[in-house]
Amino acid sequence: MANKDHTDPARMEKIVSLCKRRGFIFQAGEIYGGLNGVWDYGPLGVELKRNLKDYWWRKTVQERDDVLGMDGSILTMEQVLVSSGHVGGFSDPMVDCKTCKGRFRADNLDGFQCKEKPSVCPGQSPKCDLTEPRQFNLMLQTNFGATGEQIAYLRPETAQSIFCQYKNVLDSNRVKLPFGIAQVGKSFRNEINPRNFTFRSREFEQMEIEYFCHPEDGMRLTDEWLETRLAFYEEIGIPREKLHILDVPDGERAFYSKKTYDIEYEFPFGIQELEGVAYRTDYDIGVHQKGCGKPLEYFDEETKQRFIPHVVEPSAGCDRTVLALICEAFDEETLTDDKGKDDVRTVLRFKPTMAPIKVGIFPLLKKNEEQVRVAREIQKKLQPWMNVFYDDGGAVGRRYRRQDEVGTPYCVTVDFDTLGENGDELKGTVTLRHRDSMEQERISVDALLGWLLERVR
Ligand code: GAP
Repeated sequence: MANKDHTDPARMEKIVSLCKRRGFIFQAGEIYGGLNGVWDYGPLGVELKRNLKDYWWRKTVQERDDVLGMDGSILTMEQVLVSSGHVGGFSDPMVDCKTCKGRFRADNLDGFQCKEKPSVCPGQSPKCDLTEPRQFNLMLQTNFGATGEQIAYLRPETAQSIFCQYKNVLDSNRVKLPFGIAQVGKSFRNEINPRNFTFRSREFEQMEIEYFCHPEDGMRLTDEWLETRLAFYEEIGIPREKLHILDVPDGERAFYSKKTYDIEYEFPFGIQELEGVAYRTDYDIGVHQKGCGKPLEYFDEETKQRFIPHVVEPSAGCDRTVLALICEAFDEETLTDDKGKDDVRTVLRFKPTMAPIKVGIFPLLKKNEEQVRVAREIQKKLQPWMNVFYDDGGAVGRRYRRQDEVGTPYCVTVDFDTLGENGDELKGTVTLRHRDSMEQERISVDALLGWLLERVR
């Protein structure tokens, strides 16, 4: 049961356990004790994440005329991040507790418990002995060269490579304002307190759009992008009523932003940010023009004016969206059998477009050579189009349940009717079983691919 503040720790625990048990997400370096705030995606997690990224790319880049894609480097020149303000200002206030020796974000002490004195630490009683807050830069630094003489950083956001390449993209593609550049990729932050599973990690992926526009259009486009992004979440299976919009007040926005909406989701650990839609004004191109000493202005052919374009930035967290998809999909349904006995069915109710496995394919009987042959043929036919899973182990009911637990929307069983062994009437058809309703229908093998393609891509 969720608390008044929408938190439900028991549900979250079940989700984390399922993610490990079924191969969605593991802690990095787990066999050595684990690397805090770093996660590996297992066979099903990687499929889910790819589906999300592919769908985002299709909707954001391929189905729009005004957005182009790019894939920038992770290693970032120091000068880029000096100009952007990250070297000087990308930090969180940090405090140390002299009682428990813990280290905490000073602006976010709620929910933390001291290892030694949980009832008093941190910051909750006079006995808790915290240092004065000091600024802690969140960037991860590395060094180049034989003696490590050149500093580089693992990028803290994908955005900076877009700003640095904006002129090259503009000149090589003959685009006009407004236009966007989109990127999906890794970012790194040395978070003081990584927590809530993958929610706050030190290595994560972002899906970012930098949308360049005329100055007078910035505010309007920020509102428009907010709507576009809300519609996207609905399409992938995160209902509008579970999303909250925070109009970030003055003084709480990032240093570059004139307006920011945070799109938040009701996670089982509270309402938390999924994405920021920020109006970054001409800040970024302006500071890079100054920093590199080269003109980065846009020339408007119609008005003959030269100016620095403004930027609207919808910046989504890929890992956070994956986590939201899993949290939203997770369901435990109580079923009562003919004898009145209750049984709990665990289901991930993913939209078919997001589901890691699109269809399970089963021969009813493992020992029936003809059923196995036809099931394998169906598998081969579907595989070039979608991720399928062949399973012939155990009773078919158990196989359905195993697929329910990982969110497979459809299962296909090759049985005696398929082969005409019960009379010819249903020959060439298979049982198609629906995950959510558990209803079964018959569909011809020939129609199966087309039927699935309409639903799972
Ligand atoms: N370019 C703008 C930018 O990076 P941000 O609000 O710092 O803005 C954008 O990050 C999104 O990236 C967040 O809304 C969140 O989804 C994701 N994100 C940021 N830090 C993260 C972290 N430590 N772990 C996982 N996701 C993170």
